[in-house]
Amino acid sequence: MKINIIIKEYNNINELPAEEHHLVKAAKEALEHAYSAYSGFSVGAAIRLDNNEIITGNNQENAAYPDGLCAERVAVFYANSKYPDIPVTCMAIVAKTASGITEEPVTPCGSCRQVLLETEKRFGKPIRIIMAGKTKIRSVDSIKDLLPLSFDNTFLKKH
Ligand code: THU
Repeated sequence: MKINIIIKEYNNINELPAEEHHLVKAAKEALEHAYSAYSGFSVGAAIRLDNNEIITGNNQENAAYPDGLCAERVAVFYANSKYPDIPVTCMAIVAKTASGITEEPVTPCGSCRQVLLETEKRFGKPIRIIMAGKTKIRSVDSIKDLLPLSFDNTFLKKH
């Protein structure tokens, strides 16, 4: 089996179309309100919906570590709870440590990939993911590209 995945790379945010540039900016703003008291790793996620509304989220940590939630899931769960019928079309993700915005573009964790995949399948529309570092940016045109051979509800169908 061979799986072809295209990951685009950009070396300047201005290479992105204006609306994506705007989404990265929204993710950067959102990370400033993260509650990352334990890791010091603040993440912001910004979602564009099919109606062009932008929803943002950031990571929310807890003294009971596993009870925290990543920025991506905070944003996507809120988007799906507020607009259960409107597809998510794009998500930008940015992370910051004490030394500033990470050089390396942050990538969503496995659980966030799984949740984003469910949202993509639920609406039948690809979710473009933009992972933005300080200067280097990577993107995929569908969350599927970050989760090959994924588990989904087709496995739950009775045989
Ligand atoms: N985190 C996110 O919010 N998104 C990611 O893509 C990676 C990790 C959070 C979880 C935790 O609050 C902190 O970053 C360190 O793992």
